[in-house]
Amino acid sequence: MIRRLGLSDAVAMSTLHRKSFSVGWPPAEMRLHIEKDLCLGLGDPLAAFILVQIGGDQADILTIATHPDHRRKGLARQLLTKAETCLRDQKVETLFLDVSELNDNAKSLYKSCGYQAVGRRPRYYRTPNGRVASITFSKSL
Ligand SMILES: CC(C)(COP(=O)(O)OP(=O)(O)OC[C@H]1O[C@@H](n2cnc3c(N)ncnc32)[C@H](O)[C@@H]1OP(=O)(O)O)[C@@H](O)C(=O)NCCC(=O)NCCS
Repeated sequence: MIRRLGLSDAVAMSTLHRKSFSVGWPPAEMRLHIEKDLCLGLGDPLAAFILVQIGGDQADILTIATHPDHRRKGLARQLLTKAETCLRDQKVETLFLDVSELNDNAKSLYKSCGYQAVGRRPRYYRTPNGRVASITFSKSL
């Protein structure tokens, strides 16, 4: 069942994030997000989570990750759908996100959930192999 994440989830979020990205976010950074952003998760132990920053009638997905052992089971899709419902309740009209141009799995996820590519930012992400462009996706809620 999807739940709002609390401060006690920060370490598990950080661990899962490190398994999913080349640059991990430490627990302290997760705590800051838990205090001010929409943070939803699934599973105990944590199998997937999403962080969304809300600003007025717009919001940005900061990150979404599913544990490698639980991928392709629909968890990210469930989290996206639930986050969209929460955002509509808060009168958010448009949701944005940036994804690495090289991240085909995530791009497939967003396209299959109705997001549209609306821009490209060259050299947006720093990776161990150099700078990579981001693709900006958006969805009207
Ligand atoms: C991208 C990620 C969050 C997807 O999580 P997930 O829980 O496995 O995704 P879901 O099972 O909900 O997949 C939903 C849809 O997304 C697409 N998709 C997800 N993973 C895919 C993959 N490996 N290959 C192709 N399409 C994929 C498919 O359309 C899928 O629907 P289907 O299984 O019915 O074909 C996960 O692979 C992950 O954590 N990756 C590392 C972190 C990351 O890249 N996050 C996104 C940053 S923007």
